[in-house]
Amino acid sequence: MYLLLYVTLISIINALPSHSYPPFLVDIVGGSITRIEDYPFQVAVILEDRLWCGGTIISNEHVLTAAHCVFFATSTLYVRAGSSYWSKDGSLHRVIYNTTYGPRPNEDLSVIKVSPPFHFDETRQPIPLFYRDEVISPGTMGTVIGWGMTSETFISDHLRVVDLPYVDKKTCKELYSGTIIGRIMDGEICAGYIEGKNKDACQGDSGGPFIIDGRQAGIIAMGRGCGQPNSPGIFTDIAYYNEWIMEQISLFYTFSDNPSVNPNIIGGVRVPIQHFPYTVSILDQKGLWCSGSIITVFHVLTGSYCVYFAKTSSLIVHAGTSYWRRGGSYHHVIHNSTINPNIDIAILIVKEPFEFDETRRPIGMFSKYDMINRGMLGILTSWSNTRINLKSENSDQLRAVSVPIVEYSVCNDIYTKLGGQPIRSDQLCAGTPDKGTDPCQGDSGAPLVINNRLVGIVSTSYGCGQEDAPGVYTIVSYYSKWIYEQIST
Ligand SMILES: *[C@@H]1O[C@H](CO)[C@@H](O)[C@H](O)[C@H]1NC(C)=O
Ligand SMILES: *[C@@H]1O[C@H](CO)[C@@H](O)[C@H](O)[C@H]1NC(C)=O
Repeated sequence: MYLLLYVTLISIINALPSHSYPPFLVDIVGGSITRIEDYPFQVAVILEDRLWCGGTIISNEHVLTAAHCVFFATSTLYVRAGSSYWSKDGSLHRVIYNTTYGPRPNEDLSVIKVSPPFHFDETRQPIPLFYRDEVISPGTMGTVIGWGMTSETFISDHLRVVDLPYVDKKTCKELYSGTIIGRIMDGEICAGYIEGKNKDACQGDSGGPFIIDGRQAGIIAMGRGCGQPNSPGIFTDIAYYNEWIMEQISLFYTFSDNPSVNPNIIGGVRVPIQHFPYTVSILDQKGLWCSGSIITVFHVLTGSYCVYFAKTSSLIVHAGTSYWRRGGSYHHVIHNSTINPNIDIAILIVKEPFEFDETRRPIGMFSKYDMINRGMLGILTSWSNTRINLKSENSDQLRAVSVPIVEYSVCNDIYTKLGGQPIRSDQLCAGTPDKGTDPCQGDSGAPLVINNRLVGIVSTSYGCGQEDAPGVYTIVSYYSKWIYEQIST
């Protein structure tokens, strides 16, 4: 019966675009009732007062769901968050923007932006995602949740949960080859009971999550039977699309949103945080210690100097303010990751997640495929710190300066002549070796950004404050795999 319903839905969907039938309510069969407090990232996507899809909170203004939930919507979608019921309580948020990955139906994921933003509490929290290329072992148990159709009643009013085992790709491909489902693609994963004997072994609402150990591994996708033998559920693979998802969260904010910013800032000027909302100060008990960049709701990227040389075990991130001494929000650092003392990069995890707004927003990162060329103009932002950077005055307000990328060999010559170490392949140089331009403008960990994407972070290990020498930065794309691993655990 479920298979029949599924096939009917597929033909309806294929014949569309203008129906207004929920794309996927073929869902949790059996399972047990649960509370939103246990899965505070779960949201209901609602169309015309009906349950349409599930989704997950991935930032305070973004929801991850399936592409078909967005494609086939005929009018404005709403998201209900913070409630165990899809039909009442919690808060309603209008969908104001969506992006979908690709045109093909099996690229079934979409990031939607909501208004007003979510206020994080015990019923509304972002879910960490599986990192890029992360592999799941066959048999690993996961969880799906949703309000979808159950076997006895039509739609469940109350949030339901069911556990399913992950099915390895080879087995899943074999099970579906030659069926109407067709080929299982690279960006898809499977989970479910192959025997199909368990009535409760069916999926939650499409667009909702497949969760392993508290992190989202999949999105309940279109195209599967339900509770049928040899028909495990098909999910969009988060590990496959992780980078794209992270980019959507960050790149919703671009320079075009801020036409007043002059990208060529000579000599360093005081700037409002709204123009560089990813920049944070990192404080110890005595005050300003380092700078960093917000990269997710929980993570800040900075230099390893900030961690290895900290005189305290309790750093605090100060975000959402132009002034390191006042305003904004304080976030306790509860964990840090570094690679080793020679590699000047570190990630801090904060206890209180960042609520994104015009003063707090993550920055997207350069990938290893983006070329960084000599002469490109980067923007460095920081609060100067006399303890780290002896040359510049201590500034209460955030400052920005434009620094051109310097050719590797030129920079290497300068540093080796000064008796320093050669510049490594994971480093770049930027700055103007002229009088009047401080070659070491920033604090340790401060972000260097090109076209609103993070390229480098100030490294203090190489002659910071040297006369006539450009600044040395750690290239973030060199460590992107490591960064993705850290931000997903
Ligand atoms: C999603 O975005 C597309 C392209 O901007 C738009 O045409 C469509 O109406 C949006 N869908 C929803 C449900 O907002
Ligand atoms: C960094 O993490 C280590 C290991 O967990 C911890 O001992 C240290 O106090 C942390 N440092 C800071 C500055 O948070």
